[in-house]
This record gives sequence, C-alpha cells and structure tokens, in this order.
Amino acid sequence: MSYFRAAGLSVRYDQVRAITDVSVELDEGDIVALIGANGAGKTTTLRAITGLTRLAAGEIVLDGRRIDGLRPDEIVALGVAMVPEGRRVFPYLSVMDNLLMGAFLRRGRRAIAADVERAFERFPRLRERRGQAAGTMSGGEQQMLAIGRALMARPRLLLLDEPSLGLAPMLVQEIARSILAINREDRVSLILVEQNSRMALRVSSRAYALETGRVALEGRSRDLANDDRIRELYLGG
Ligand SMILES: Nc1ncnc2c1ncn2[C@@H]1O[C@H](COP(=O)(O)OP(=O)(O)O)[C@@H](O)[C@H]1O
Ligand SMILES: [Mg+2]
Repeated sequence: MSYFRAAGLSVRYDQVRAITDVSVELDEGDIVALIGANGAGKTTTLRAITGLTRLAAGEIVLDGRRIDGLRPDEIVALGVAMVPEGRRVFPYLSVMDNLLMGAFLRRGRRAIAADVERAFERFPRLRERRGQAAGTMSGGEQQMLAIGRALMARPRLLLLDEPSLGLAPMLVQEIARSILAINREDRVSLILVEQNSRMALRVSSRAYALETGRVALEGRSRDLANDDRIRELYLGG
C-alpha cells in the first residue's frame, strides 16, 4: 500500500472540467513530479489534495486514512503542507514573522524556535534578512521563505506549486538542491508541480505528465526524461 494515493480525482469549475480521473501515488520518502503546460490541471490537483477545492469524484488516502472531505486545516494537521503558486508570503510582515505564521497550528515555543533556526540553516539568506519585510525581497528569496514557512508546520508531505517559476537559472538550481535536502535530511515526501520539466524530472523519482486535465503519461522520471514524446512536448525537443 502506498503512503499517499489520490485516485480518480475529478474537479469541475461550473461547466469547465479542470481535471478528470487524475490518479497520483507516492511512496513514503519519495519525490513525485507533476509536469504539464499552463492550464493542464496541476494546481487544481494540489488544491484538491489539500481540501481547498471540492472533488466531483475520486478519493485521497494518506497513510491508510481517507482525507478527502476533510477541511484544509485538518489536512494540514495530518502533516500535509503546500507552498502555493506565486509564493504568497505576507509582504508587510518580516521574514521572521512569516516563518512564525507557518507554525500557527503548533504549540511549544522552544520547538518552534528550533525550527526557525533550522529554516535559517536551510536558507542562510533568510537569517540575514530576518527583520526585512518579505515583500521587499527578491523572487528567489520569497520562494525560500515560502518553503521555509511551509516547513514550520513540520509536514511529512510537502506540495510545491511551481517553485522555480520566474527564477533565474542559478536560483532554480538552488531551489532544486533545497528540495533534495528537505527530502533527504528532513525526511519529507514531496509532490513537485513544475512547468520546468527538466528540473522536475531531475529531482523526482517518478512523474506524471498532465495534459488538459488528464494524466497523459506516467513513469520513472529517468525514463520520461528520455521519452520522445516528453522531450518534444516538455523539454524543447
Ligand atoms: N477558479 C477557477 N475557475 C474556473 N476555472 C478555473 C479555475 N481555476 C482553474 N481553472 C481552469 O481549470 C483548468 C486547470 O487549471 P490549473 O489547475 O490552474 O492548471 P495549471 O496549474 O496546470 O496551470 C484550466 O482550464 C483553468 O482555466
Ligand atoms: Mg498552476
């Protein structure tokens, strides 16, 4: 039995079918990628998993327990955190206060302080800017903060929605390294949504390619990176 399994997810917005019969599985400790063009249904899939969007059909099982139908805060409490598309930090709050917002469901000041320290070790630039308003930082720094804030909830499963979007290549590499470190050192399983298929296929072990709301291809990331159709559609030939 897999650690996480979403089966047959369908979501509609009024008459529009956003996703249809999307299934995603993840073993504990794994990184799985969802790739696909703009509008393919990647964000909708993540929002369905986190309870932010109502399912028209499908079921979601985490660690043997049905989580579809739970409220978003109940799903967070079970260890699922998401970094939304567009790295929504609180722009007028300091870096420090943004991190503390990520721990709002937790008690225990010492443990929280220790996790702030871990976030600073993971992203040293955040330490330097701890007092700075988050909205004044660069896109890359805001992405690091958004990830650091999500980690403050001590997730076991982290969903990242296009963390590399709009970042310069060097920063994309840095984010990719952070994702691998979070996976290996913090033992967090990840679902990584990316339009940057090259990066996503490099850091994940398995991947799903979404096309117009359906899973068009799935398999080991290594195999997909060599698949002619994937190369043509997602890797620029
Ligand atoms: N709030 C919404 N209302 C209506 N349609 C939406 C909404 N959000 C997304 N959609 C539609 O659902 C489909 C999937 O969108 P989305 O999940 O955002 O794709 P992706 O994240 O892969 O770019 C698209 O056709 C999009 O236009
Ligand atoms: Mg999206």
